[in-house]
Amino acid sequence: MASSAEHTNLDSSLRENRVFAPPAEFAAKAHVKSLEQYEAMYRRSVEQPEKFWAEAASELEWFAPWNKVLDGEGKDTKWFVGGKLNLSHNCVDRHAKGARKDKIALLWESEPGEVRRLTYGDLHEQVQRFANVLKGLGVKRGDRVAIYMGMCPELAIALLGCARIGAIHSVIFGGFAAHAIVDRVNDSECVAVITQDTSYRRGGEVKLKAIVDEALEKCPSVKNVVVYRRSGSEIRMKEGRDIWWDEAMLQAEKECAPEWMDAEDPLYLLYTSGTTGKPKGLVHTTGGYSVQTYLTSKYVFDLREEDVYWCTADIGWVTGHSYVVYGPLQCGATVMMYEGAPNWPECDRFWKIIDDHKVTVFYTAPTAIRAFTKWGNEWVHKHSLASLRLLGTVGEPINPESWMWYHREIGKERCPIVDTWWQTETGAIMIAPIPGAVPAKPGSATRPFFGIVPEVVTRSGEPVPDGQGGLLVIRKPWPSMARTIYGDPKRYEEAYWSEIPGSYFTGDGARRDTDGYFWLMGRVDDVINVSGHRLGTMEVESALVAHAKVAEAAVVGRPDEMKGQAIAAFVTLESGYVASEELRQELRQWVAKEIGALARPDDLRFTDALPKTRSGKIMRRLLRELAATGEVKGDTTTLEDFAVIAKLREGEE
Ligand code: WTA
Repeated sequence: MASSAEHTNLDSSLRENRVFAPPAEFAAKAHVKSLEQYEAMYRRSVEQPEKFWAEAASELEWFAPWNKVLDGEGKDTKWFVGGKLNLSHNCVDRHAKGARKDKIALLWESEPGEVRRLTYGDLHEQVQRFANVLKGLGVKRGDRVAIYMGMCPELAIALLGCARIGAIHSVIFGGFAAHAIVDRVNDSECVAVITQDTSYRRGGEVKLKAIVDEALEKCPSVKNVVVYRRSGSEIRMKEGRDIWWDEAMLQAEKECAPEWMDAEDPLYLLYTSGTTGKPKGLVHTTGGYSVQTYLTSKYVFDLREEDVYWCTADIGWVTGHSYVVYGPLQCGATVMMYEGAPNWPECDRFWKIIDDHKVTVFYTAPTAIRAFTKWGNEWVHKHSLASLRLLGTVGEPINPESWMWYHREIGKERCPIVDTWWQTETGAIMIAPIPGAVPAKPGSATRPFFGIVPEVVTRSGEPVPDGQGGLLVIRKPWPSMARTIYGDPKRYEEAYWSEIPGSYFTGDGARRDTDGYFWLMGRVDDVINVSGHRLGTMEVESALVAHAKVAEAAVVGRPDEMKGQAIAAFVTLESGYVASEELRQELRQWVAKEIGALARPDDLRFTDALPKTRSGKIMRRLLRELAATGEVKGDTTTLEDFAVIAKLREGEE
C-alpha cells in the first residue's frame, strides 16, 4: 500500500461529499432510469449471472449457440462454451445488412483538417477486402499480426479485418520505440505487421514505417508488411516483404465470409506493464469480450441511435480497443476518431471538433482534463458544446476539482459524468455509474457494473470495513476478463490469482464508502500511471541499466499535478563515469529511445549508492518519499543527501 498515487486522490477525496443526481431530463430517456432500477438489475445480475449474461449475449448474433454460459472458476473460467461468433460480424455486418447500412460508422478528422465519413456499408466492404488482403499474404486463423499505426479509419479496419479471419491482432501504440516493437513482435512471433508511412502529430510527422523498418531487422518471424499510404511522404519499401495497402485493397475480392470463431478463441493480444521489466501480452478471447464491451457501451454510455460518440483514447491502448472500436461499433454507433493532438493548431481543437461534428458523448482522461484546465476557460468558451449530453473519464483517479471543472465548463452542469474504472486485464468497464440511475460523487467511480463483484480486502483477503482503505479485488468471474498471458500462464496465475486466494487481484488500492461507492486510490504495486499511461518502474530501470555507463537504477513514481504521476529515476554510474547535466540528458533521451517518449524520466538523479535493505532490496518507499517531498534540493544532478538515507536505512530490515 505504498503507491504515491494514493496521496493525490485520497487527500481530496476523503473530504468529498458532494452528490450529483442524474439530471431528470437525462434519466427520463435513459436505458436505466432510476437507482431502484439499477439496484434491481444489479441484484439479478449477481444472483443469476448465467441468465443475465445469456440475455445480454442474445442481443448479438451467434452462428451457433453456446451450451453453457459459464464454466469453471477463477482464472480458468470459460464463457459461452461452444458458442460460435465473429466480432467483425457483430460490429459491421449486423448493421450493414440492416437499417444502419447508410449510417455513418466512422467519422474521422485528421490533424490537418480533412474529414472522412465511412458508413456501415462502406466499412463492411473495406473490412472484407482487407481480410482478403491478409488471406492473400497467407495469414491464417490463429496467426499473430502486429499493428503499428496512427489514428485513422484504416487502423480500425485493420483490427476488424484480423478479427474477421481469426488472426490475433497485437496493436502496438504508435508512440512506442523500435525496441518496444521488437520485444512485442518476437514474444508472440507475429507473421505480419500493418503500418503506415507517417502520421501527423502536433504539426510534425511521426515516421512509423521507418521505425518498423528498424525494428524488423531483429524480428525474424515477420514475413510481410502492409503499408497504408497516409501522408504520401517518402519511405523505403522492402521488395518481397512490403506491400501498399491501397494497391492490395484494389486487387482484393470484395467479399470475405467471417470465420466462425469459438467463444474462447483468442481475439487479440495487448501488451501492458506489470511489476517486472518485461511487458506482458494479455490474451482476450472472443465471446465474453464481445458481450461485455457491447453491454457496457450500451449502458454506461447510454448509447442511442442518434449519438455521435467520441472516445479520445488511442487505439494503441485497451480503451481504444474496447471503446473506440469494439463496444460502440457493436452498438451501431457513429464513432468519431481524431488523428492528432488536442492543442493543435490551438488549445480549443477538441471543443471545435465537438461543435463541428455535434458530438453527444465525450470520453477522455483526467490528464487531458487537467491540461484543458491549465490552458484556460477562454478556449472552451469560444464554442457552444450544446450537442453534448454525457461525459466520461478513464485511466486514473480524477481529482474532485477536475471533476467539477469538467461538470461546469464542459458539461454546463447538464451532462452526467461517468468515471469508469477498469484495466487492460478486465477488458471492459467494471465500476462506473449508470448515468441515468446512479448519482455521481466527484472522484469516485461509484458502483459496480452489472455482474461485477468488487471488494476491498486486506493482504490476507479479509474484507475491510467500509470507509477504510485496502486492496481492490474482484470476487466473481466476468465475461471480458483476460484469459492468460501469452506464452506465460504461470505469470498470469501469480500476478492476478495468487495474491488474494479465490479472487482476482487488481493491483489497485481502494476504499468503499457506506453508500457502497468505490474510491480508487492508485496502484499498490510497481506500476505507475503517467498521464493515464501505464508503465512499469522495472521497465524503465531495465532500459536505464542497458546503457553502458549505468551500473544500477531505481525508478519510482511521484505525484505530479498535471501527469498524475511523474517518473523519478535514481542512477548509479559505472566506475570511471562522472555525473553531469549532459549525461543526465543523455540518459533521459536513452530511455525515450528504448521505450518511447512516454517513459522519459522527469527527474533523474545520480547517486553513489541506492538505499537497500540488508537482503539487497532497493528501498523504494524511501525513494518515493524522497521523490515526492523533494527533500533533495538545489543541484539535481547529484544526490548529496544519501547520508540521511543511510541513517534511515539502519532502521529498516
Ligand atoms: C487506473 C485503462 C482510478 C488503475 C482502462 C488501473 C483508474 C489502471 C481508473 C489500468 C479510474 C483506470 N479511476 N484509476 N476511473 N481507470 N485506472 O490497464 O490504477 O491502462 O489499475 O487500463 O489504471 O490501466 P490500463
